Amino acid sequence: MDSCSLQIRYPSKECMLEQNEEWFHLVTEDGQERIRIHEYDRVYDVPGLYEEVVYNRLQCDSPRVITQLLKETMENHGDNSTPLRVLDFGAGNGIVGECLQDAVNTETIVGVDIIDEAKKAVERDRPEIYDDYYVMNLAQPSEEEKQALDDWDFNALVTVAALGFGDIPTRAFVNAFNMVADKSWVVFNIKDRFLSDDDDTGYNEMLQDMIGESLHIYQKHHYCHRLSMAGEPLHYYAVIGRKEKGF
Ligand SMILES: C[S@@+](CC[C@H](N)C(=O)[O-])C[C@H]1O[C@@H](n2cnc3c(N)ncnc32)[C@H](O)[C@@H]1O
Repeated sequence: MDSCSLQIRYPSKECMLEQNEEWFHLVTEDGQERIRIHEYDRVYDVPGLYEEVVYNRLQCDSPRVITQLLKETMENHGDNSTPLRVLDFGAGNGIVGECLQDAVNTETIVGVDIIDEAKKAVERDRPEIYDDYYVMNLAQPSEEEKQALDDWDFNALVTVAALGFGDIPTRAFVNAFNMVADKSWVVFNIKDRFLSDDDDTGYNEMLQDMIGESLHIYQKHHYCHRLSMAGEPLHYYAVIGRKEKGF
Protein backbone atom coordinates (compact mmCIF):
# COMPACT_ATOMS: atom_id res chain seq x y z
CA MET A 1 0.00 0.00 0.00
CA ASP A 2 1.57 3.28 -1.02
CA SER A 3 0.20 5.93 1.33
CA CYS A 4 3.18 8.23 0.59
CA SER A 5 1.58 9.25 -2.67
CA LEU A 6 -1.55 10.49 -0.93
CA GLN A 7 -1.86 14.23 -0.62
CA ILE A 8 -3.74 15.17 2.50
CA ARG A 9 -4.39 18.59 3.99
CA TYR A 10 -5.29 18.79 7.65
CA PRO A 11 -7.28 21.51 9.42
CA SER A 12 -5.38 23.94 11.62
CA LYS A 13 -4.68 22.92 15.21
CA GLU A 14 -7.21 25.46 16.45
CA CYS A 15 -10.00 23.44 14.89
CA MET A 16 -11.47 21.60 17.89
CA LEU A 17 -14.23 19.21 16.88
CA GLU A 18 -15.94 16.18 18.40
CA GLN A 19 -14.20 13.03 17.14
CA ASN A 20 -16.94 12.02 14.74
CA GLU A 21 -16.93 15.50 13.17
CA GLU A 22 -13.20 15.62 12.45
CA TRP A 23 -12.27 15.97 8.79
CA PHE A 24 -9.37 16.42 6.38
CA HIS A 25 -8.95 17.23 2.72
CA LEU A 26 -7.84 14.62 0.21
CA VAL A 27 -6.18 16.34 -2.72
CA THR A 28 -6.34 14.62 -6.09
CA GLU A 29 -6.01 15.76 -9.69
CA ASP A 30 -9.77 16.30 -9.63
CA GLY A 31 -9.48 18.81 -6.80
CA GLN A 32 -9.86 18.80 -3.07
CA GLU A 33 -12.36 16.54 -1.29
CA ARG A 34 -13.42 17.14 2.29
CA ILE A 35 -13.83 13.82 4.11
CA ARG A 36 -14.82 13.11 7.72
CA ILE A 37 -12.74 10.41 9.39
CA HIS A 38 -15.98 8.64 10.32
CA GLU A 39 -17.08 8.47 6.65
CA TYR A 40 -15.61 4.98 6.63
CA ASP A 41 -17.10 4.00 3.26
CA ARG A 42 -15.21 6.81 1.53
CA VAL A 43 -12.03 6.45 3.62
CA TYR A 44 -11.69 2.68 2.99
CA ASP A 45 -12.20 3.21 -0.74
CA VAL A 46 -8.81 4.91 -1.02
CA PRO A 47 -5.94 2.45 -0.38
CA GLY A 48 -3.78 3.56 2.56
CA LEU A 49 -5.94 6.55 3.51
CA TYR A 50 -7.23 5.17 6.82
CA GLU A 51 -3.71 4.07 7.77
CA GLU A 52 -2.18 7.44 6.86
CA VAL A 53 -4.72 9.61 8.70
CA VAL A 54 -5.62 7.50 11.73
CA TYR A 55 -2.39 5.60 12.34
CA ASN A 56 0.39 7.82 11.02
CA ARG A 57 -0.94 11.32 11.56
CA LEU A 58 -3.17 10.73 14.61
CA GLN A 59 -0.99 7.99 16.10
CA CYS A 60 -3.79 5.57 16.90
CA ASP A 61 -2.38 2.82 19.11
CA SER A 62 -5.48 0.84 20.03
CA PRO A 63 -5.07 -2.38 18.01
CA ARG A 64 -1.57 -2.87 19.44
CA VAL A 65 -2.54 -1.87 23.01
CA ILE A 66 -5.57 -4.12 23.06
CA THR A 67 -4.00 -7.19 21.52
CA GLN A 68 -0.97 -6.89 23.83
CA LEU A 69 -3.24 -6.58 26.88
CA LEU A 70 -5.15 -9.64 25.74
CA LYS A 71 -1.89 -11.55 25.30
CA GLU A 72 -0.65 -10.56 28.79
CA THR A 73 -3.97 -11.34 30.45
CA MET A 74 -4.13 -14.76 28.80
CA GLU A 75 -0.57 -15.50 29.92
CA ASN A 76 -1.27 -14.30 33.48
CA HIS A 77 -4.27 -16.58 33.72
CA GLY A 78 -2.49 -19.59 32.28
CA ASP A 79 -4.72 -19.68 29.26
CA ASN A 80 -2.52 -19.03 26.26
CA SER A 81 -2.56 -22.57 24.96
CA THR A 82 -6.18 -22.59 23.74
CA PRO A 83 -6.21 -21.14 20.23
CA LEU A 84 -8.68 -18.31 19.81
CA ARG A 85 -11.64 -18.36 17.46
CA VAL A 86 -12.26 -14.64 17.25
CA LEU A 87 -15.26 -12.62 16.19
CA ASP A 88 -13.74 -9.24 15.24
CA PHE A 89 -16.82 -7.03 15.38
CA GLY A 90 -16.56 -3.67 13.59
CA ALA A 91 -13.48 -5.09 11.89
CA GLY A 92 -13.04 -2.26 9.38
CA ASN A 93 -10.15 -2.73 6.99
CA GLY A 94 -8.51 -5.44 9.07
CA ILE A 95 -5.80 -3.79 11.16
CA VAL A 96 -7.05 -5.43 14.36
CA GLY A 97 -7.18 -8.84 12.72
CA GLU A 98 -3.58 -8.37 11.62
CA CYS A 99 -2.47 -7.42 15.16
CA LEU A 100 -4.38 -10.36 16.66
CA GLN A 101 -2.66 -12.74 14.29
CA ASP A 102 0.73 -11.38 15.37
CA ALA A 103 0.02 -11.22 19.13
CA VAL A 104 -1.93 -14.32 20.07
CA ASN A 105 -2.51 -17.89 19.03
CA THR A 106 -5.50 -17.78 16.71
CA GLU A 107 -7.25 -20.68 15.06
CA THR A 108 -9.87 -18.52 13.33
CA ILE A 109 -10.50 -14.82 12.85
CA VAL A 110 -13.84 -13.79 11.39
CA GLY A 111 -14.63 -10.15 10.65
CA VAL A 112 -18.03 -8.49 10.78
CA ASP A 113 -18.73 -4.92 9.69
CA ILE A 114 -21.84 -3.08 8.62
CA ILE A 115 -20.44 -1.67 5.37
CA ASP A 116 -19.40 -3.45 2.23
CA GLU A 117 -16.50 -1.03 1.70
CA ALA A 118 -14.79 -2.48 4.79
CA LYS A 119 -14.96 -6.01 3.38
CA LYS A 120 -13.72 -4.80 0.00
CA ALA A 121 -10.79 -3.00 1.66
CA VAL A 122 -9.85 -6.20 3.53
CA GLU A 123 -10.00 -8.22 0.31
CA ARG A 124 -7.82 -5.60 -1.38
CA ASP A 125 -5.30 -4.84 1.41
CA ARG A 126 -5.25 -7.77 3.89
CA PRO A 127 -6.68 -10.74 2.02
CA GLU A 128 -4.98 -13.39 4.14
CA ILE A 129 -6.06 -12.25 7.62
CA TYR A 130 -9.68 -13.36 7.96
CA ASP A 131 -11.14 -16.83 7.56
CA ASP A 132 -14.35 -15.12 6.57
CA TYR A 133 -15.74 -11.60 6.61
CA TYR A 134 -19.43 -10.77 6.79
CA VAL A 135 -21.28 -7.55 6.09
CA MET A 136 -24.11 -7.70 8.62
CA ASN A 137 -26.20 -5.57 10.93
CA LEU A 138 -26.01 -7.39 14.24
CA ALA A 139 -28.64 -5.07 15.74
CA GLN A 140 -31.14 -7.17 13.79
CA PRO A 141 -29.45 -10.33 12.52
CA SER A 142 -31.50 -12.79 10.47
CA GLU A 143 -31.71 -16.45 11.53
CA GLU A 144 -29.31 -17.35 8.68
CA GLU A 145 -26.80 -14.74 9.83
CA LYS A 146 -26.99 -15.96 13.44
CA GLN A 147 -26.46 -19.53 12.27
CA ALA A 148 -23.51 -18.57 10.06
CA LEU A 149 -21.77 -16.94 13.03
CA ASP A 150 -22.77 -19.68 15.46
CA ASP A 151 -21.07 -22.27 13.23
CA TRP A 152 -17.67 -20.68 13.95
CA ASP A 153 -17.96 -21.58 17.68
CA PHE A 154 -16.26 -18.34 18.78
CA ASN A 155 -14.36 -18.21 22.06
CA ALA A 156 -13.38 -14.52 21.78
CA LEU A 157 -15.15 -11.28 20.89
CA VAL A 158 -12.96 -8.31 19.95
CA THR A 159 -14.30 -4.83 19.16
CA VAL A 160 -11.87 -1.96 18.66
CA ALA A 161 -12.76 1.70 18.09
CA ALA A 162 -16.32 0.92 17.10
CA LEU A 163 -18.56 1.53 20.14
CA GLY A 164 -20.48 4.76 20.52
CA PHE A 165 -20.39 7.79 18.15
CA GLY A 166 -23.26 6.31 16.16
CA ASP A 167 -21.21 3.24 15.26
CA ILE A 168 -22.13 -0.05 16.94
CA PRO A 169 -25.29 0.43 19.03
CA THR A 170 -25.65 -1.30 22.42
CA ARG A 171 -28.21 -3.80 21.02
CA ALA A 172 -25.74 -5.00 18.38
CA PHE A 173 -22.94 -5.31 20.93
CA VAL A 174 -25.18 -7.33 23.26
CA ASN A 175 -26.19 -9.59 20.36
CA ALA A 176 -22.52 -10.19 19.50
CA PHE A 177 -21.76 -10.85 23.18
CA ASN A 178 -24.54 -13.43 23.27
CA MET A 179 -23.19 -15.13 20.14
CA VAL A 180 -19.87 -16.14 21.68
CA ALA A 181 -19.64 -19.07 24.08
CA ASP A 182 -19.57 -18.73 27.87
CA LYS A 183 -15.97 -18.26 29.12
CA SER A 184 -15.06 -16.45 25.88
CA TRP A 185 -12.57 -13.61 26.08
CA VAL A 186 -14.37 -10.30 25.61
CA VAL A 187 -12.09 -7.50 24.53
CA PHE A 188 -13.06 -3.97 23.59
CA ASN A 189 -12.20 -0.33 23.96
CA ILE A 190 -14.47 2.59 24.57
CA LYS A 191 -14.05 6.33 24.99
CA ASP A 192 -13.68 7.09 28.70
CA ARG A 193 -16.67 9.46 28.66
CA PHE A 194 -18.93 6.63 27.47
CA LEU A 195 -18.03 4.70 30.61
CA SER A 196 -18.94 7.50 32.98
CA ASP A 197 -22.00 9.32 34.29
CA ASP A 198 -21.62 11.76 31.34
CA ASP A 199 -22.37 9.01 28.83
CA ASP A 200 -25.22 9.60 26.40
CA THR A 201 -24.76 6.47 24.25
CA GLY A 202 -26.33 3.93 26.63
CA TYR A 203 -23.03 2.06 26.95
CA ASN A 204 -22.30 3.06 30.54
CA GLU A 205 -25.62 1.77 31.86
CA MET A 206 -25.52 -1.38 29.73
CA LEU A 207 -21.93 -2.25 30.66
CA GLN A 208 -22.48 -1.56 34.37
CA ASP A 209 -25.37 -4.06 34.22
CA MET A 210 -23.33 -6.56 32.22
CA ILE A 211 -20.23 -6.40 34.41
CA GLY A 212 -20.45 -8.84 37.30
CA GLU A 213 -22.79 -11.71 36.56
CA SER A 214 -22.37 -11.73 32.77
CA LEU A 215 -18.91 -10.26 32.26
CA HIS A 216 -15.89 -10.68 34.52
CA ILE A 217 -13.34 -7.91 34.02
CA TYR A 218 -9.61 -8.69 34.32
CA GLN A 219 -8.20 -5.41 33.05
CA LYS A 220 -9.54 -1.90 32.57
CA HIS A 221 -6.72 0.20 31.22
CA HIS A 222 -6.93 3.97 30.66
CA TYR A 223 -4.75 5.06 27.73
CA CYS A 224 -4.44 7.40 24.75
CA HIS A 225 -6.40 5.87 21.85
CA ARG A 226 -5.22 8.53 19.39
CA LEU A 227 -4.67 12.25 19.03
CA SER A 228 -7.42 14.58 17.98
CA MET A 229 -6.88 16.68 14.86
CA ALA A 230 -5.94 19.49 17.26
CA GLY A 231 -3.20 17.27 18.70
CA GLU A 232 -4.91 16.53 22.02
CA PRO A 233 -4.86 12.98 23.44
CA LEU A 234 -8.19 11.17 23.27
CA HIS A 235 -8.45 8.77 26.18
CA TYR A 236 -10.20 5.41 26.08
CA TYR A 237 -10.53 2.40 28.34
CA ALA A 238 -9.27 -0.92 27.03
CA VAL A 239 -11.29 -3.68 28.68
CA ILE A 240 -10.25 -7.32 28.83
CA GLY A 241 -12.77 -9.69 30.35
CA ARG A 242 -14.44 -13.04 30.11
CA LYS A 243 -18.04 -13.85 29.43
CA GLU A 244 -19.63 -15.59 32.39
CA LYS A 245 -23.09 -16.04 30.90
CA GLY A 246 -25.47 -14.50 28.36
CA PHE A 247 -26.86 -11.03 28.94
C1 LIG B 1 -13.04 3.37 13.64
S1 LIG B 1 -13.47 2.02 12.65
C2 LIG B 1 -12.54 0.76 13.48
C3 LIG B 1 -12.15 -0.37 12.58
C4 LIG B 1 -11.23 -1.40 13.23
N1 LIG B 1 -11.86 -2.05 14.35
C5 LIG B 1 -9.94 -0.73 13.67
O1 LIG B 1 -9.75 -0.56 14.88
O2 LIG B 1 -9.11 -0.42 12.81
C6 LIG B 1 -15.14 1.61 13.13
C7 LIG B 1 -15.74 0.48 12.29
O3 LIG B 1 -17.00 0.10 12.86
C8 LIG B 1 -17.89 -0.17 11.80
N2 LIG B 1 -19.27 -0.09 12.27
C9 LIG B 1 -19.99 1.02 12.54
N3 LIG B 1 -21.23 0.68 12.94
C10 LIG B 1 -21.29 -0.66 12.91
C11 LIG B 1 -22.30 -1.62 13.21
N4 LIG B 1 -23.49 -1.23 13.63
N5 LIG B 1 -22.01 -2.93 13.06
C12 LIG B 1 -20.77 -3.30 12.64
N6 LIG B 1 -19.78 -2.47 12.35
C13 LIG B 1 -20.03 -1.16 12.49
C14 LIG B 1 -17.54 0.87 10.77
O4 LIG B 1 -18.04 0.56 9.48
C15 LIG B 1 -16.03 0.89 10.86
O5 LIG B 1 -15.46 -0.04 9.98
